[in-house]
Amino acid sequence: MRRKLAAGNWKMNGTGDGLGELRTLSQSHSASAVDILICPPATLLHRAGAVLDGSGIATGGQDCHAAGSGAHTGDISAAMLADAGATAVIVGHSERRADHDERNDDVRAKAKTAMEAGLMAVVCLGESLAEREAANTLDIIAGQMSGSIPDLSTGENLVIAYEPIWAIGTGKVPTMEQIGEVHGFVRTRLDRRFGAGVARSVRVLYGGSVKPGNAGEIFAVPNVDGALVGGASLKADDFSPIIHALEDAAG
Ligand code: PGA
Repeated sequence: MRRKLAAGNWKMNGTGDGLGELRTLSQSHSASAVDILICPPATLLHRAGAVLDGSGIATGGQDCHAAGSGAHTGDISAAMLADAGATAVIVGHSERRADHDERNDDVRAKAKTAMEAGLMAVVCLGESLAEREAANTLDIIAGQMSGSIPDLSTGENLVIAYEPIWAIGTGKVPTMEQIGEVHGFVRTRLDRRFGAGVARSVRVLYGGSVKPGNAGEIFAVPNVDGALVGGASLKADDFSPIIHALEDAAG
């Protein structure tokens, strides 16, 4: 069985003042029936880890460099994230693909280096509005999967986040049928490439405007194993009901 996963992506938000939100979360969700992952800015990883210590809530990075070390001013390696207490890292988020011109092969190299450093890579995929309107969604997802997911992927070191670009931060959400179609497609493609064992064990998250009001409905969609949550992960009052909805879905 796949353990469900609620992941929060703080993006470029949060200073030490935000750590109180994590204290609240750790009080209400320690030893949860679902996995919980918070990806704060790298500057907060160490302090977030200290606040969450003993709660079972994990921390992760939001990006890593594909190289292990070297002359890359301002970048962070996967080993550095692990050293700061992270057990996971998001790679290939659409904001990084857009802002830093990251291509599928860059994302694949980052995911590979993350896995080799012992981190779980949360690989993000998703179509633009133009691609959806042109009925190209599944082709885009297939291309991103074959281009961005490394061969050494397993159910332990890979999580996939399906995040339609047009749903991120917009309050717009695909229909449950559309989410189910893509998640089922992702599962089938995993099976074809890696075999049934891996396909059965990789968590596939939905991301894009997940809120307390729509989480329950999204978590009822087949092959949705949790969520990657942006804006609503910043406040415990918003993220906690989403985690509760996932705990309910986990039974
Ligand atoms: P959102 O962001 O929940 O604010 O839409 C999701 C994401 O970008 O991971």
